[in-house]
Amino acid sequence: MIKVSRRAASIAPSMTLAISAKANELKAAGVRVINFGVGEPDFNTPEHIINAAKDAMDKGYTKYVAAAGLPALKKAICKKFKEDNGLDYEPSQIVVSNGAKHSIFNALFVTIDDGDEVIIPSPYWLTYPEVVKSCGGVPVYVQTSRESGYKMTAEQLERAITPKTKMLILNTPSNPTGSVYVREEIEKIARVCVKHNILVLSDEIYEKLIYGGEKHYSIAQVSPEMKELTIVINGVSKSYAMTGWRLGYLACAPVIAKAISSFQSHSTSNVNTMTQYAAIAALEGDTAPMEKMIAAFGDRREKMMKILDGYKSIGLDYVKPDGAFYVMLVVDKLFGKSYKGKKIEGSMDVADLLLTEKQVAVTPGICFGDDSTIRLSYALSLEDIKAGLEKIAELAREAE
Ligand SMILES: Cc1ncc(COP(=O)(O)O)c(C=O)c1O
Repeated sequence: MIKVSRRAASIAPSMTLAISAKANELKAAGVRVINFGVGEPDFNTPEHIINAAKDAMDKGYTKYVAAAGLPALKKAICKKFKEDNGLDYEPSQIVVSNGAKHSIFNALFVTIDDGDEVIIPSPYWLTYPEVVKSCGGVPVYVQTSRESGYKMTAEQLERAITPKTKMLILNTPSNPTGSVYVREEIEKIARVCVKHNILVLSDEIYEKLIYGGEKHYSIAQVSPEMKELTIVINGVSKSYAMTGWRLGYLACAPVIAKAISSFQSHSTSNVNTMTQYAAIAALEGDTAPMEKMIAAFGDRREKMMKILDGYKSIGLDYVKPDGAFYVMLVVDKLFGKSYKGKKIEGSMDVADLLLTEKQVAVTPGICFGDDSTIRLSYALSLEDIKAGLEKIAELAREAE
């Protein structure tokens, strides 16, 4: 009998697979499914970015380049960190990888030893625990609450620290909650991390997608000591509608960047060369298409919240999201009720009923460590958002 490694066996299959397979089956049968499950912008990559990739190919830039990234791209990334975050990094502290997900994997691979604990505030992006486990680490969850806007406090963090704690994963703006940590909250968390010498993997992939006057603040900005302990993760996927291009990057202490560069040089090598030229155009080119996209997300968020405010009377609640493009809809008042003879016991049942009875696809909160909610993305048209929310409300009204 063939046995996979212990590490591979520890990785959970995606809980969303069953739901998305069913949604695809319905679509293939010609049923129109409204999909709140999307995790990527419903906008095309801006034309000037596409042209930069075409231009690179026409010029023959189709060969291997430095494993950690093109010098010109690293320079553009350093400029971005300086201008957007007030952070000074040398190009040698930057590593460009195949998407932010790959950057996260690399960062954990070179810092986590067997048995090291990694603190993850919950609800969390479902990839974090699986990457931690695949690198031999142990995920330690800190449960946040609706009352705190799904944000972990410094006190909660300090309570979760043990002699084995190696790292905290902080994600702001957050997938799935949309919460944005403000400067004071981050400063308090940083104080704890510096005191206990804990690394922070700061996933800032949704940095540009912030609404309602909130501002992004990176934990690396707090102090030179905190910057030394921080691995900042970012990329072009969400901000520039470039999810399929696969380019993420990180910035960190030279010793970590060097280890990641070496590892990447023996694993995937460089991100495809034309995508790197496209990323330079994204970071340095016209920001108007990105601003238009952000404005559209902001408008949908406002309208969605207005509709959801009207649903409190039917037992559906939510925590105001300030960033990314997700809302967690609290559905636990439906638990214990039935719909067409099916008992609703958790978020998976709600997601299943919405799909089969209302043709609406959502992601059950249990995938993110919070069974009381379902996650709704607003990376879909306003028309679909309105029609889909109405169907969710119908189910809530009809359940008894
Ligand atoms: C919080 C978070 N981090 C990282 C990523 C990965 O981004 P990329 O597509 O660049 O790998 C995602 C994508 O869904 C995400 O939601």
